Amino acid sequence: MRLQCFSRPTQAKRRVTMSDPYVEAWERSIKDPNGFWGDAAEAIHWYKRWDKVLDDSNPPFYRWFVGGELNTCYNALDRHVEGGRADQAAMIYDSPVTDTIKTYTYRQLRDEVALFAGALADRGVVKGDRVLIYMPMIPEAVIAMLACARIGAIHSVVFGGFASNELATRINDAKPKVIVSASCGIEVKRVIPYKPLLDGAIRMSNTDAQPQSCIIYQRPMETAPLTPGRDVDWKEVVAAAKPADCVPVAATDPLYILYTSGTTGLPKGVVRDNGGHAVALNWSMKAIYNVDAGDVYWAASDVGWVVGHSYIVYAPLLRGCTTILFEGKPVGTPDAGVFWRVIGQHKVRTMFTAPTALRAIKREDPRAELMQKYDLSNFYALFLAGERLDPDTLKWAQKALKVPVIDHWWQTETGWAICANCLGLHAYPVKEGSATKPAPGWNLQVVDPNNQPLPAGQIGALVVKLPLPPGALVTLYNNDQGLIKSYLEEFPGYYKTADAGFIDEDGYVFVMGRTDDIINVAGHRLSTGAMEEVLSDHPDVAECAVLGVEDDLKGQVPVGFVVLKAGVTRPHEEIVNELIQMVRDRIGPVASFKKATVVKRLPKTRSGKILRGTIQKIADNKDYKIPATIDDPAILDEIKAALVTIGYAQGRR
Ligand code: COA
Ligand code: AMP
Repeated sequence: MRLQCFSRPTQAKRRVTMSDPYVEAWERSIKDPNGFWGDAAEAIHWYKRWDKVLDDSNPPFYRWFVGGELNTCYNALDRHVEGGRADQAAMIYDSPVTDTIKTYTYRQLRDEVALFAGALADRGVVKGDRVLIYMPMIPEAVIAMLACARIGAIHSVVFGGFASNELATRINDAKPKVIVSASCGIEVKRVIPYKPLLDGAIRMSNTDAQPQSCIIYQRPMETAPLTPGRDVDWKEVVAAAKPADCVPVAATDPLYILYTSGTTGLPKGVVRDNGGHAVALNWSMKAIYNVDAGDVYWAASDVGWVVGHSYIVYAPLLRGCTTILFEGKPVGTPDAGVFWRVIGQHKVRTMFTAPTALRAIKREDPRAELMQKYDLSNFYALFLAGERLDPDTLKWAQKALKVPVIDHWWQTETGWAICANCLGLHAYPVKEGSATKPAPGWNLQVVDPNNQPLPAGQIGALVVKLPLPPGALVTLYNNDQGLIKSYLEEFPGYYKTADAGFIDEDGYVFVMGRTDDIINVAGHRLSTGAMEEVLSDHPDVAECAVLGVEDDLKGQVPVGFVVLKAGVTRPHEEIVNELIQMVRDRIGPVASFKKATVVKRLPKTRSGKILRGTIQKIADNKDYKIPATIDDPAILDEIKAALVTIGYAQGRR
């Protein structure tokens, strides 16, 4: 097959052939969203058909499948049990950290979910109630999510690597009736007790937001004492429960809230609806990943992140695939061959992970020798996202795996890929550094600060013309104005991705980096603003800046710069250690905040704006111009010297 490059009709030069299924799908999705998504919705089971596919009567708030009623859990489980997949594996739990492999058929998973849904109902959870899930990568986390969907409750999963304080902010916002947690998680070298973190978070949270009860799954490696009157044991409540049936919900009812870092310490509660989400995710499995019912699909992420929500839990199950729930790391559990072992052993067809995971493997096994031990003949494609895919990692993976290695770009807010090489529609040649083309449904543009389109090749703000396709965020929890302020105000008529980039002459999209203070650390999205808020709380700190500097393994890591208050004479090392501990305690170990330095002053413009971009360039050994607006250029030498003391700005590392 001769592969050609076709561009979508952007400002870029057009070379369109109507026989390309990708081009046809993209154009139809934009010109006729009602027809396009209406057709896709036929693959979903509805209790009541929708009155309208796209309700655009109240911009900038758009709704999909208005008037329709469905149940996401029914579509993910019961439908397949009734449709002949009852004995097919729905989920394989592969946990090298506990030496466990356990398979759940669709029937078994449906039955366990129905029982836990009954247990939630016994604790008073009804449609519309929030249930917060703070769990490691164990089957009970997936069961709890689907059980919420079954009875119309809204789940909010919080990643296990977040500290009590972060958990408390989410409890305050979501006001969960019940929290579901486990006694512990397991990291490479240690067991992490979850219960003290949970107890701390509940203590810190507002009284009116605290849960009526907590259901705790006790793991054998560390059991947790239960708080009488509030905590109950998972196994006991399930033993006493009766299975609950699926409750029909409106297509526009919320399925879940997922908090993500914003530009302040307060995370944003991204709300996903039921109808649009089910339609888009089910459709994406074939169109983007080229996966069919019965295939084995593995997203090596965590259910605490959007990738885990969309592609460990909902999309593969909606499609009737077998999903893998992996409790381990790419290295150290036990070695850098574990990904290949899982692919071989479970006959994985398509895998999805973050580039950082491959960099970790490449560092330990540069020639991919461990891969040779496994039969990867079923493996069809590797998809990567979460951060920019660097060319070295792309080439390494292509050479070692000999399958398509596909970069695709998306965000917690979007729920699925904005740009991808849609293998189920048309496989395009891969261009290094590009996430290929906008997926159907996404009318992506590159604009200047005045919202004017930029020509091909020119970097600007990546924005998406409204309406966003189904499956994207519908609002922020209890905060419609927040949606407008954060995403819709700056470029009227468009969704601001807060990523910068360009589209080339062939219509390929290149995502260059964030335009705000968000950084990506090992594929985890974090706010440097939130870290600055923590550092500012230290009694000796007068001012501070945190920025992301390049890291060979994690892509970026945060580095802090602090100016001390006049008269502070304590050893700097002591203060820095306290700052590192504060970030770990208040945000969590996942922040990977391990380096900070004391400086006499911070470089600023004459109007007082800290020159973060310049500091970043110095740290990353990049060329930089001394900004014309800087109040004192000599400060840059001081910053460089400070960076050298902590291992940066030393020429090529
Ligand atoms: N619960 C508790 N602690 C956690 C945690 C969890 N669920 N996840 C991570 N942590 C801790 C880690 O133990 C580590 O603690 P430490 O500072 O005491 O060592 C810290 O948070 C940082 O974790 P991480 O960034 O994951 O670094 P790592 O060195 O342990 O592992 C990688 C590095 C690259 C192997 C790992 O980050 C990885 O697999 N990344 C892939 C990310 C991913 O899938 N992202 C989703 C988007 S697709
Ligand atoms: P998250 O919400 O955690 O999924 O993080 C979203 C952010 O990660 C995006 O706004 C991008 O900055 C970055 N990102 C995700 N995927 C890619 C990609 N394929 N290429 C470049 N950046 C990416």
